[in-house]
Amino acid sequence: MVLLHIDPSRTVGKRDPMIYGHFIEHFHRQIYGGIYDPGNPLSDAEGFRIDVIKAMQRIKTPVLRWPGGCYVSASHWKDGVGKERRPHFDKAWRVEEPNTFGTDEYIAFCRKVGCAPYICTNAGTGSAEEMSDWVEYCNLPNEGPWAKLRADNGHKDPFKVKYWSIGNENYGSWEMGAKSAEEWGRLVTESAKMMKRVDPSIELSAAALADLDWNINLLKGSGKNLSWISLHGYWDGINQTNDYANYEQSMVYTNTLDSQVAKVRGLLAAMDFGNRIRIAFDEWNLRGWYHPNVDAGLSLDEYIKPRDLNDENQRYTMADAVFTACFLSMVNRNCDIVGMANYAPVVNTRGCIYTYPKGIVLRPTYHVFDMYVNELGDTVLDTYAEAGQKLSLTDKQGKATETPALDLLATLDAQGNVVLAAINKDPAKAQDFTIDWGSSPSPSGYSIHTLSGTSTESYNDAGHDDAVPLMPTKAGYKAPDSIKLPPHSVNVIKFAK
Ligand code: AHR
Repeated sequence: MVLLHIDPSRTVGKRDPMIYGHFIEHFHRQIYGGIYDPGNPLSDAEGFRIDVIKAMQRIKTPVLRWPGGCYVSASHWKDGVGKERRPHFDKAWRVEEPNTFGTDEYIAFCRKVGCAPYICTNAGTGSAEEMSDWVEYCNLPNEGPWAKLRADNGHKDPFKVKYWSIGNENYGSWEMGAKSAEEWGRLVTESAKMMKRVDPSIELSAAALADLDWNINLLKGSGKNLSWISLHGYWDGINQTNDYANYEQSMVYTNTLDSQVAKVRGLLAAMDFGNRIRIAFDEWNLRGWYHPNVDAGLSLDEYIKPRDLNDENQRYTMADAVFTACFLSMVNRNCDIVGMANYAPVVNTRGCIYTYPKGIVLRPTYHVFDMYVNELGDTVLDTYAEAGQKLSLTDKQGKATETPALDLLATLDAQGNVVLAAINKDPAKAQDFTIDWGSSPSPSGYSIHTLSGTSTESYNDAGHDDAVPLMPTKAGYKAPDSIKLPPHSVNVIKFAK
């Protein structure tokens, strides 16, 4: 049994609410038919899906990254503003992009959800000037043609977009206009300079890797202009045969959740940026898809359609939920350096909300966000767990490995209650743990909120949205000798002070 030592006076720090952020891309049905669906009775007068907005409000979406992703690296924001929208051929996903959803619509959507905008610029085929024109369009009151254009488009007041990312995965061969480490350092330096000349108050991020050369080149030239460094993580690469990792294989990935953070943390410290630059883990998800153009020259429709059938939701199970909880706990533990994380994406494809013409499905991962955002405290405690049981697992390549069965994160809420995120990764067995409260008074009782479903394969779908139910909170437990967590479960446990 695991023994968890908790001392409420030992804190790691306050987590930034932006660690519960999201991402949306011009990619299949994420925007069109996802958050934006003009003419659908479930949409408002401006075409935004009201059910999606409400679901995003419930998980207090703090920040939404847009418009890509790979999409951004060959797209031009000027095609998507004003009355005359210019459709273009999207070379990342090989479809026509109508550009009817552009900057004005994105800002309107963020305002309805109540989240901060976070714009990712085209650093593939775009220029430093195009990026700084975008800052002018969004943030200058009235100086210059682009600020005036915004006003002409009906928005007299600036949008005040604080968070900007220079580029996406510009290191990757799959990205349009990919760059070498040297080219990247130079482009970011020049772009940051021009963007900050337009609005010095913006906070900039730029694409990084857990790769020394790339990051050194980036930070040497541009470190002084960056507030963030951007990381992406997809653990389960899925190919044409749809070989989604099963539950056990997905748990193997939880062993490497923090490896990029650890490397970048070390480099930032070594280069004296540790106190100035934070990590924005601005795309993450258990599942990553190979890029159709890289893989087999398929069009987006050929590639995605088979993944967007009615049975699409069956792919997102308790494996995704447990992995998501482990990632969010990792980010909480690293809250001194990770200030933002963006689940990729929020809607459709492998997102936590699935839309169909008559409604939405809240996937198991959505409920994990709901529990973490709405129930955990904002102060992360520095705990120590004495080893418990390890699970023997086999990874996707057939290699045997182990992972701890339990993942325990402790937080303190505004009322001074200790609130735990307690994850049992064990596919089949309940697992126990006990707490040593040291010299602090033991709590008089606790309440527990559990997400587990009936099996590791439980999922939610249209028409049966209850396969992964949030079990009713059980209140009034007396201070226990040990707490038992059901198999494959994510739990939030609040201890009465
Ligand atoms: O989500 C699809 C793609 O995955 C994104 O465009 C890209 O940034 C990541 O590689």
